[in-house]
Order: sequence, then structure tokens, then C-alpha cells
Amino acid sequence: MCGIVGYIGEQQAYPILIKGLHRLEYRGYDSAGVSMIGSNGNLTVYKAKGKVNALEAICADKDVSGTIGIAHTRWATHGEPNEVNAHPHYSQSKNLALVHNGIIENYKTLRAEMENNNYTFCSDTDTEVLVQLVEYMQELHHCDLFTAVQNALKHVVGAYAIAILDRSNPDQLICARKGSPLIIGVGKDSNGRAEFYLGSDATPIIEYTDQVIYLKDEEVASMDRSGRLNITNLANVAQTPQMQTLEMNLEALEKGGYPHFMLKEIWEQPQALRTSIRGRLQVQDRDVLLSGIIDNRDKFVNARRIIICACGTSWHAALIGKYFIEEACHIPVEVEYASEFRYRNPVIYPDDVVIAVSQSGETADTLAAIQLAKQHGAFLYGVCNVIGSSIARATDSGTYIHVGPEIGVASTKAFTGQVVTLMLLGLAIAKEKKTLADDMFHMLVNELCLIPEKMQWTLENNKDIDSFAQMFTYCRNFIYLGRGYNYPVALEGALKLKEISYIHAEGYPAAEMKHGPIALVDEEMPVVVIAPKRGMYEKVVSNIQEIKSRKGKIISVVTEGDKVVRGMSDYSFVIPDTRDCFVPMLAVIPLQLLSYYVAVAKGRNVDQPRNLAKSVTVE
Ligand code: AGP
Ligand code: GLU
Repeated sequence: MCGIVGYIGEQQAYPILIKGLHRLEYRGYDSAGVSMIGSNGNLTVYKAKGKVNALEAICADKDVSGTIGIAHTRWATHGEPNEVNAHPHYSQSKNLALVHNGIIENYKTLRAEMENNNYTFCSDTDTEVLVQLVEYMQELHHCDLFTAVQNALKHVVGAYAIAILDRSNPDQLICARKGSPLIIGVGKDSNGRAEFYLGSDATPIIEYTDQVIYLKDEEVASMDRSGRLNITNLANVAQTPQMQTLEMNLEALEKGGYPHFMLKEIWEQPQALRTSIRGRLQVQDRDVLLSGIIDNRDKFVNARRIIICACGTSWHAALIGKYFIEEACHIPVEVEYASEFRYRNPVIYPDDVVIAVSQSGETADTLAAIQLAKQHGAFLYGVCNVIGSSIARATDSGTYIHVGPEIGVASTKAFTGQVVTLMLLGLAIAKEKKTLADDMFHMLVNELCLIPEKMQWTLENNKDIDSFAQMFTYCRNFIYLGRGYNYPVALEGALKLKEISYIHAEGYPAAEMKHGPIALVDEEMPVVVIAPKRGMYEKVVSNIQEIKSRKGKIISVVTEGDKVVRGMSDYSFVIPDTRDCFVPMLAVIPLQLLSYYVAVAKGRNVDQPRNLAKSVTVE
């Protein structure tokens, strides 16, 4: 999950590296580090525990000159988050410096072998083994760095994206990947020669160039100062790089006046959803056009089953997708935690469609789950946000959710973007399978078109959550309840609160309360109930009564105009009326705002909550 940045060219590397690290800080913020080769030939490494700001403070009075460099922001997997374990790691001779994202699974064996060869280690990381191994290969085979990297990686089991500097060759930057993402940006210097940028994603690169190459698994690349790029596989067979043009806008990476990315992203949702549905929902013709479904019509129409693999918030969106696709398309849908699915020998048929839902498109478990499904011959479909991400490229086809970069670690606009995309998918399949009557289909299309506007209304009419949230900062537990389409919303509301305020919260199907969790309810316990005037409204009203009788505090999400639930609640958030299946996209908004404001009132770091990272590229 760490973030990697690199540069070689005619500019000073340090400012590019630091800016890039700030952009990638969402991937991990346990420590940060940089390494440059200066004009005096020194290979410097500076590191700091904590955030990039701490690194900048350390570097303030140091010589950070150099036109080649690598940098890293860490989410620790092996070894506690301290300065010693921070990357870059030196090799024994201090001739090499390396940054790494991923996990070297056989690091213990490799480390023991290296120790037998008189190598000593400073850190507890798996990463240090890599840099030592490369140096060992250089010495053993008397080879250049590129060959040594190829050789070293042949001994490695696990996942890596690495970038490496060699003091004896200040004109060459080498990188490689397997399992963890790495992108090479190709810019032009003042002489029209190619200069190179590296990033775990495109955000550190976009302001310099839009020309990028997505490195593939087991590829090693060398970039040199004369503008040459050489890519091979581990067996030294040359690979032809495929240049792609990035579509990303720099403004989307800034906070735009909001105190946090999370709040910006919550407020962006109406616009993000408009972009998501643009060209796909045809208002006038009351139609849905999804090229991924049109191009693969037979796969979906003849699917025996759909399996959706995802993690975290994306799993919650997938659950809503399941309810809708089963209802609209009459295809059985299973929703799987990717981390469980990949290890439990699931039954997968060649006529199954396996959908991976992932904002980042880099989640290691989700990627592994679809690789497993591929071995069984299933058709793979991706629902990702990050364009060109590993999952987007590993799937046979897919639909991007197109909500723009999501920087806040707690997912908000990606969730609603995933839900709307799964709705579009359901409608597009239903159209092909003719499982919805025409008038129902048209009515759903019409209503879905109104959702961005209704989201805006919801945001405008719940502005007082800010002051209301203060009252709940003392709470140690919350319960979230919903039924049907709103059960996943309850799960998502609880996850948001846990993630950023560190208050314990559980989401439950409302009617399950009485089978156990109701024992937790007392006058101290806030219970958030999603109770729109739709579907199982009356049943939810009874569930609320049950909680009130035990003196629980009711916070409800109700439909505009509702009096009954409002009257029973200590506090209510209002949403406009819509079809049952679309309620989640509205009901989740006040829950996002509630968790945001509770976390702010508790002084939490909302965009970078402790122990978390945006993209989980390790197991
Ligand atoms: C969401 O708030 C979380 N931080 C997390 O659960 C996230 O949804 C999960 O890690 C999946 O990520 P992905 O969508 O990028 O695959
Ligand atoms: N395993 C390395 C470490 O703990 C990299 C971690 C990661 O990429 O998440 O430092």
C-alpha cells in the first residue's frame, strides 16, 4: 500500500518527489523518505517517521540537490512504523537505495541466506532483503544493476513495485513490478529529450506529462538521462512499451476550499453521479446504453450466475447491486469478500460472470479473486474508478464509475458511483433479457436521472448535522439499522463512523436486532435507523418501537414529509422520496456527513485516519 515516486531528467528531483509524496500520502503515512544522487556523486537518504511534512522538516537544512531521485510514503506491513524501517533502504555498501510497495513473502529465508553471506540488516522490513539481494547478485555475477535486479527478482516470492538508485550510475533509474502498481510518465526536457517520472498512480505525474506507460507484472524498466527507456521481463526478453494518454484533471486533486477531501468528495456527489450516468442514461429515449453490456451481451444474458467480489465499502455497494440485479434481471447474484473467496476453493462455472468492484482497482485481494475466477474460465467484468488500474486491465470488460479521483481514505463518492453503476448494469442487462416490463424500465430510467438533483437537495437540507454531531462525540458505540436495500447502507454508515472517528459501530438488518444485539441498547446507545417511507416502512416502525421501549436514542433517516418516524425520533435527517432501490444513494449522504462531523468534533485526522490506507495493495 505504500506510495512510490521517482524522477530522472534535467530538473531538480527533490521538489517533484515531495509534491508526489503529498499526492500519494493517502496510500500510507507511517513514514516518508527520499533518496537522491547529488552532483557530487553522493547517494543521500533522508527519512522521517510520520507524514511527508515531517520529512520536509528534516530535509530543510540538508543538501537535497540532484536530478535523479526516488521517494516513498509507507504503510507498514513488516516492522513497526519508525525511522529505521522507513524507506528508502540502503544496501550493505550503501551504494544502492531502494523503495518498495508490497510484501516479500519469502523474506525470512532470503534474509537468513544473506546473513550467512555476511550481510547485516538494520531494519525489520521485508524490503531491506530486496536491496541486499540486488547488491549480492551484482557481486556474485559481476553484472550491471539491471541484470542484478532481474536475477534478484527471480528469487522473490510475493508482490513488489520497486525503484532503485545506484551511486555508481547517477544516469540511470531502475524499477520493476509484480502485483503492486507502478506507472512511468514520459515527459520532454528543454532539449526535447525524454525525461521520466515514476508513480504508484498517476497523481504525482499528471502535472508534468499525460503520456504514461503502465508497467506490467514481472517487467523491469531502466530509464536513463539520455532519454532511453528499456523494458524487459525477468528473462531479459525485451517488451514493447505501450504509451497511453492520461485523462485526469489537476484541479480534481486539490481540496478546492474545503477543509478536507472527504467533505469535498461528499459535496461532489451530485456532479460525480451526473458524470457517471452521462451518455449511459438517455433521458429523452428513456434508455440505457452501456457498451460493456452491449459488447458482451451473450455473456450476461446466458450467465448462470453473477458473483461480485469486493472489499470494504465496495462490498457494501456490491450488496446493493445484488439486490437490484436479482430483482431486475432474475439472475442469482452472490456477493463475496474477495479475501475469503480467493482462499476457499469456491465453485466457479465457465458461464459465471464475475464482477470486481473496486474504487482503486488495485486492492490485492480483489485482484487475486478475479485471477482465480479467470482460471475457472469465468467472464470477468470490472467496476473501477481508477482508469488503467490493475483490476481494470485484468478484466475482460468493464464500466468505469467515472467519479474522479477520490483522495479521502474514507470512501464516499466512489460508493454512490459504484451503486449507480451497478444500477445501470442491472438496467442494461434487464433490457437485453427483457426481464422488466417497458413501463417499469422507463420509470426506473426516469427516476435514476433525478438522483443527482435529489442528492443536491439532501446535501442542502442537512446542513445542521454539523452542530448536531457535537452531541455524539462522547459516545462509545453506535448501532445502524436498515432493511432491504438499506441494510447495506446501515453497514456503510457504521463503517464510515468507525473509520474516521474510531467510535465502535455496528450495522445490522433492523429485524435481526431482536435476535441478540438489542441487549446492547440502553439510554446511552444512539441507534441510527434508515426508515424511508417505502418498502418495509411499517416493519421498520415496529423495530423502532422495540428500541424506544429500551430507551435507545433514535436518529432516523426519513422521507421528506414523514411525521410518524420523525415523531418517534430524537433527531431526523430528511431525504426526498425515490424508488426503494435508489434510496441508498440518498440515505447514505446524511450518514457520511454524520461520521465526518463527529470525527471533526473529536479532532480526528479525517482524510488520513490511523492505521488505514486508501488502497490496500497487500494481503
Ligand atoms: C472505505 O471507506 C474503505 N477505506 C475501504 O473499506 C475500501 O472501500 C476498501 O479497501 C476497498 O477498496 P477498493 O474499492 O479500492 O477496492
Ligand atoms: N513491506 C514493506 C514495508 O513494510 C512495504 C509495505 C507496503 O507496500 O505496504 O515496509
